[in-house]
Amino acid sequence: MRGPVAAVIPAAGRGVRLGPGAPKALRALGGVPILVHAVRAMLRARAVALVVVVAPADGVAEVRALLDGNGLPESKEIKVVAGGDTRQESVRLGLAALPDDTAIVLVHDAARPLVPVETVEAVVAAVRDGAPAVVPAVPLADTVKEVDPAPRPDAPEPVVGTPERGRLRAVQTPQGFRRDVLAEAHEKVTGAVTDCAGMAERIGVPVVVVPGHEEAFKVTRPLDLVLAEAVLARRRAADVF
Ligand code: C5P
Repeated sequence: MRGPVAAVIPAAGRGVRLGPGAPKALRALGGVPILVHAVRAMLRARAVALVVVVAPADGVAEVRALLDGNGLPESKEIKVVAGGDTRQESVRLGLAALPDDTAIVLVHDAARPLVPVETVEAVVAAVRDGAPAVVPAVPLADTVKEVDPAPRPDAPEPVVGTPERGRLRAVQTPQGFRRDVLAEAHEKVTGAVTDCAGMAERIGVPVVVVPGHEEAFKVTRPLDLVLAEAVLARRRAADVF
């Protein structure tokens, strides 16, 4: 698969699990908004020529100003468009802003600011090599239980199963797609799906996994911000020496 690569970054979520304050993507990490880190992470990949940031509907001008004020490379294009009520809707609005000649689309959570360029490039390479849908993923440290809802609010949840841990993967982003495949998935699939690859699976597209990276974790809870600051400090120290 040849042709231009674009990245869509849904950044329209409120990030309530991080606690009160600014929307998650606008929180600072090492003094720079999380979203700016995520945009830089995509632009570092040589193949990525365009990044479409999907901002909260009432925050498009603010996000544009933020990106303009943070010294991003001018050799690549960055668009900002308004998002929707769900991640899925935000991604769909981002896809609508892509130029016609876009061949490959990466969809990357704004909430994964520290994904290394090697991971981004591995995803692009797998799509270039012919996979229609690619996800980076890592093995699980914890055993996972499937539960039923608790019979009463104060009762414990009954366990109904234990999937074999060795066959489970925790999926990260960027997820990479042939553009036509992702567009078709967004046209046909409705209902709640937590990632784009899940939509591709629903329409029968084969999805493959490439190795993810421990630093591509999603900043969701307050402790994740502490970890992200530590990773950044380690990188900055490594740059100095
Ligand atoms: O809520 P969660 O952490 O799964 O969100 C994943 C990504 O989707 C975040 O980058 C968030 O900003 C984005 N999102 C969005 N529009 C929404 C909800 C979430 O762009 N309505």
